[in-house]
Amino acid sequence: MQESDRAQSPFQKVANASEIPEGEARIYPFDGGEVAICHTQGNYFALENMCSHARSPLESGPLANESQIKCPLHGARFDVKTGKAMCLPAVMPVKTYTLEQRGDELWLAKK
Ligand code: FES
Repeated sequence: MQESDRAQSPFQKVANASEIPEGEARIYPFDGGEVAICHTQGNYFALENMCSHARSPLESGPLANESQIKCPLHGARFDVKTGKAMCLPAVMPVKTYTLEQRGDELWLAKK
């Protein structure tokens, strides 16, 4: 990739895959806020780090049921692939981002 192509790319390098253990989530700054990057079954997924129930940050650390990220405030869980709310009290999804893995690097873009 040429340097001029890189400047126009919507993707930003956010993390290294090796920093995020299988079955866990880690929080990183992205797009003026924070993103939760989740590692499950060999794949990586990125969600806005903001619960849709009462706008609290989601939980860094182990995922629930292998593929759900939890909100520590009232216990809502979200599917890491789609952002869909999986249990009350949340009913609205969490925003997801497009993620590309380039070697050990994880790059994100807004959808
Ligand atoms: S703020 Fe997340 S479940 Fe209430």
